[in-house]
Amino acid sequence: MFALANKIAIVTGASSGIGRASAKLFAEEGAKVIVAARRQAELDTLVAEIEDNDGAAIALAGDVRDEAYAKALVDLAVEKFGGLDIAFNNAGAVGRMGPISDLPLEGWRKTLDTNLTSAFLGAKYQVPAMIERGGGSLIFTSTFVGHTVGMPGMTSYAASKAGLIGLTQVLAAEYGPKGVRVNALLPGGTDTPAATFKTPESRVFVEGLHALKRIAMPEEIARSALYLASDASSFTTGAALFADGGVSINRT
Ligand SMILES: NC(=O)c1ccc[n+]([C@@H]2O[C@H](COP(=O)([O-])OP(=O)(O)OC[C@H]3O[C@@H](n4cnc5c(N)ncnc54)[C@H](OP(=O)(O)O)[C@@H]3O)[C@@H](O)[C@H]2O)c1
Repeated sequence: MFALANKIAIVTGASSGIGRASAKLFAEEGAKVIVAARRQAELDTLVAEIEDNDGAAIALAGDVRDEAYAKALVDLAVEKFGGLDIAFNNAGAVGRMGPISDLPLEGWRKTLDTNLTSAFLGAKYQVPAMIERGGGSLIFTSTFVGHTVGMPGMTSYAASKAGLIGLTQVLAAEYGPKGVRVNALLPGGTDTPAATFKTPESRVFVEGLHALKRIAMPEEIARSALYLASDASSFTTGAALFADGGVSINRT
């Protein structure tokens, strides 16, 4: 049910963290994977690891804010692997933080471009390729921040990630009739380079916000991405799926 045999996937943000773990898991489950991010060397290492494990992957480095890159990823999937079934649009960044009065417009725009406009650009080229195959699964990495929790200093991140949930709902309605499912995945705190803690105390504080009193390993979020990518979630579309260790509901 969770197998991805004969499936072709794009995973963005694959050079690190959640995207890296997901690309490896998708490949283990049989998918052929196009791995995307800016850092070529990290992508090359990932491809080598996947191939050593008898999987198939191709790296294409680029910036998800670039429309030509969004198109090139889909073209590569079609030319080299024969189509596209799954797109895990996961690349993202917290971006500039701080009080809104100190946030330059440029910082706001950069975060919106990285987290939200990239998703629009990805979907624009991914959806038609999926329709060609009779359907597919699109996944966007959102977050609890801006959906269930307001965290001071994170305006642009929260707005961009909440925007992904709106994008998810409209695309799910628009392309459900064509067999394309579209879902948002909302991780809790996850132990990746994005979640650097200034002090051990700040890590303990963030862990304590979660009902499970810890943050996730990227492999745990990857398993939720696999669920949304696979036929195990065949009747799930337009959802905002929490994999957040209870940070959204916890009050202690
Ligand atoms: N870690 C958490 O606590 C947490 C919680 C909720 C949601 N999230 C979300 O989960 C997703 C993955 O984050 P992570 O925690 O795995 O962090 P990470 O390890 O820092 O990974 C971020 C990935 O995004 C890529 N990326 C960033 N900007 C890019 C750009 N302009 N073009 C292409 N690729 C870009 C990075 O690759 P390059 O640097 O090589 O380009 C990297 O592969 C993000 O969307 C993040 O917002 C994370």
